[in-house]
Amino acid sequence: MILVCGGIKGGVGKTTLATSMTVLRAAIGRDVLLVDADDQATATDFTAVRNETLAASGGAGYTSIKLHGAAVRNEVLKLAPKYDDVVIDVGGRDTAGQRAALLVADVYVVPFLPGSFDVWTLDSVGELVQEAKGFNDKLKAICMINRADAKGADNQEAADIAREIPGLDYIDAPLGNRKAFRSAASQGLTVTESKPPDPKAIKEIKALYKLLFDI
Ligand SMILES: Nc1ncnc2c1ncn2[C@@H]1O[C@H](COP(=O)(O)OP(=O)(O)O)[C@@H](O)[C@H]1O
Ligand SMILES: [Mg+2]
Repeated sequence: MILVCGGIKGGVGKTTLATSMTVLRAAIGRDVLLVDADDQATATDFTAVRNETLAASGGAGYTSIKLHGAAVRNEVLKLAPKYDDVVIDVGGRDTAGQRAALLVADVYVVPFLPGSFDVWTLDSVGELVQEAKGFNDKLKAICMINRADAKGADNQEAADIAREIPGLDYIDAPLGNRKAFRSAASQGLTVTESKPPDPKAIKEIKALYKLLFDI
C-alpha cells in the first residue's frame, strides 16, 4: 500500500504519522520504503537519529529516501513494486511534490489540529484531493485530529467541521497532545518503542494504524 501523510499546513503531525506508520508496519516484518518528499527533510533526520539509537540492533528497520517534485510520482511508481509498503511524508504546502504524491497514493491522510484555523485549510486540501481523484481513482483521502485537547469542546467542533469537507472523510481516531509523541521522535522512535511507555499514546497510535491499513 502507498500511504501519504499530507496536507498544506506545517507542524500538524505529518512527519510524526509517517514515521510512526513506517515503524509499526516494519515491526510486523513488512519491507517498507519511507519517502521524504519534504525539503525540510525531517523524516530523513528522524531516520538518521533512529539508525544511531538502534545501531546495536541493526538500525532503522526500513529503507529511507528523499525525493522532490515530480520524482515523487515517477520514482515511487518504479519503486513501489519492490516493497511491501511505501509511506510518503510531504511538506506542509501545496507543492509539486504534494500533488505528485496524491497521484500515487492509495490512502492520503491529513492530520489537523483542533480549535485553530487549521481546520479551515482542509477545504483547500479537499479541493486538491478532488482534482487528484480525476487521475487517481483508487485514492482514499481521510483526515484526523492530532494533538487533541484533553478536555473542552474544541475536538468535537473541529470534527463537526471536518465531517462536512468535500473530498475528505473524517475518521474518529485522534491522537492526544502527549509529551510521549515528542520525546519518542527526538530519539528516532515511535511511542510503541520509547520508555517509559505511555499506554494512552500507544493505544491511540495502534488504533490509527489499524484504521489506515484496514486491519
Ligand atoms: N500528538 C502529539 N502530541 C504532542 N506533540 C506532537 C504530537 N504530534 C506531533 N507532535 C510534535 O509536534 C511537532 C510537529 O510535528 P511534525 O510531525 O513534525 O509535523 P509536520 O510534519 O506536519 O510539520 C513535533 O515537535 C512533534 O514531535
Ligand atoms: Mg514534517
